[in-house]
Amino acid sequence: MDRILSGIQPTTDGFHLGNWLGAIRNWVGFQEKAECYYCIVDLHALTVRPPAKVLRRNVFGMAVSLLAVGIDPERSALFVQSRIPEHAELCWILDCFTQLGDLNRMTQFKDKAQQNEKNVNAGLFTYPVLQTADIVLYKATHVPVGEDQEQHLELAREIVRRFHHHYGDLFPEPKVIRSEAPRVLGLDGKTKMSKSRDNFIGVTEDPDTILRKLRSAVTDPRRLRRKDPGRPEVCNIYSLHGFFSGSEERAEIAEGCRTAGIGCVDCKKRLHANLTTVTEPIRERAEALKACPSRVWDVLEEGRRRASTTARATMAEVRERLGIGEGGS
Ligand code: TYM
Repeated sequence: MDRILSGIQPTTDGFHLGNWLGAIRNWVGFQEKAECYYCIVDLHALTVRPPAKVLRRNVFGMAVSLLAVGIDPERSALFVQSRIPEHAELCWILDCFTQLGDLNRMTQFKDKAQQNEKNVNAGLFTYPVLQTADIVLYKATHVPVGEDQEQHLELAREIVRRFHHHYGDLFPEPKVIRSEAPRVLGLDGKTKMSKSRDNFIGVTEDPDTILRKLRSAVTDPRRLRRKDPGRPEVCNIYSLHGFFSGSEERAEIAEGCRTAGIGCVDCKKRLHANLTTVTEPIRERAEALKACPSRVWDVLEEGRRRASTTARATMAEVRERLGIGEGGS
């Protein structure tokens, strides 16, 4: 049976359409067929030094959103990274199998360093090593992620190979699972939808907020007036219809856009209607979960217990291979 691990940063108290379409829909789907570990990676989130209260609130909100969208704690271990100390221990060990040149090539590091020049810390630099530790600690065979994480996964495989070269085979080389939407664009229609760029629609946001955000979303830049014909193939709103509207409606919208029969405002209203038909039940489930926080913390505690059993077993093998920790004489 395959083993799946994936993670999400608790940088806000829920996830956006990019996370959902790019990764989390696959997380939900894999529960049927594989042993799944899903991790809220609060140690990774420390690279931006959030206030303690904010981080805890976001961890809780992220757990709520994941449960609301269909992560089933009966089937998957849903847990918080910092509750399993082995992640940090294995990260240090894997640091010793990671070349600076490899880390220097990471485009996400370069992007983040550029976005926040005042806080280019070592954690940001070794971030992919902790990510590798997250994966191999559970001996995951497959990792469902969006396109932006593929380079980190290539590095993870490289780190695994280097470990094996020196100490013998121990971990599977983790494979990426791509979704149908590996790179969802943000409301600007240009850059990747992301929390840090504030160009996102949250999956548990209320319909009014979603409508307000859609109103400001960029469409075909050449369509300046209502009567200008548009190009659905370059319009991000049209591409979002691809996930929430039926094929007949999409064909009608594409035609209406090209002939200027349907304006951008109406196109957005239709997307809003179809999108919120999907997101409203999720938001309602999230609200219900928020009303009983102890249930959510219990789920995370149960997830911790399950994850911990696997993590400990792997670390015992790792320590044995390296000649550290207990054992020997
Ligand atoms: P994070 O928290 O940025 O995003 C969580 C998941 O959502 C995907 N994603 C997207 N997919 C398509 N379009 C987008 N606009 C978009 N934005 C985000 C991400 O690719 C990711 O799959 N480093 C990871 C978290 C992590 C992890 C791990 C993932 C830590 N350890 C181990 C896998 C395995 C991150 O920052 O994801």
